Amino acid sequence: MATAPEQFANVPEVVIRPMRAADVPEVVAVERASYQFPWSEGIFRDCLRVGYVCRVITARREVMGYGVMSVGAGEAHVLNLCVAEGFRCRGAGKKLLICLLERAHAAGMGEAFLEVRPSNTTAIRLYQSLGFEQVGMRRGYYQAPQGREDAAVLKLVLPRSTPPPGG
Ligand SMILES: CC(C)(COP(=O)(O)OP(=O)(O)OC[C@H]1O[C@@H](n2cnc3c(N)ncnc32)[C@H](O)[C@@H]1OP(=O)(O)O)[C@@H](O)C(=O)NCCC(=O)NCCS
Repeated sequence: MATAPEQFANVPEVVIRPMRAADVPEVVAVERASYQFPWSEGIFRDCLRVGYVCRVITARREVMGYGVMSVGAGEAHVLNLCVAEGFRCRGAGKKLLICLLERAHAAGMGEAFLEVRPSNTTAIRLYQSLGFEQVGMRRGYYQAPQGREDAAVLKLVLPRSTPPPGG
């Protein structure tokens, strides 16, 4: 899978690295500014505690986005992907998602799943650009200002690992 570092030509010192407990306040600030129904600080701390794949993308050490993914039983689940508003549309979201998918692939997962609001056309376009396809719909999955909103379930089949020589 290819990354798109050239899109960061004007953003020096862009790094993707594991999220640390010390990042959580900054991550939560981006989360609160980005979602109407944000995850709490405790959810991020739990994700770190249980060993989910948690990554941040930073520019000049400032957290500009993050992704959280669980892996197990052959499946990866992308649970959160978010880029701070001021850094959007520059390839950070795609770069982060590719990083998560590469991690899932390296861990031997065969498929990646995620849920997305059908109204979130920006995110859907990003997922489709990496090959995700809709495989279902969860009715009333998300909180919404008026009641509940459905979630589209998207799936990506990850490439099979090359067998070891002679294997
Ligand atoms: C979804 C999100 C993570 C995308 O991050 P981003 O850094 O802006 O995305 P990128 O710049 O990497 O763009 C990747 C692709 O997304 C699509 N995209 C991004 N911004 C878009 C826009 N404003 N309009 C249409 N498509 C857009 C394009 O397909 C783009 O690929 P391309 O540049 O090769 O055409 C970001 O918008 C975000 O954090 N939104 C709020 C939180 C959220 O909704 N998360 C997803 C929950 S399921």
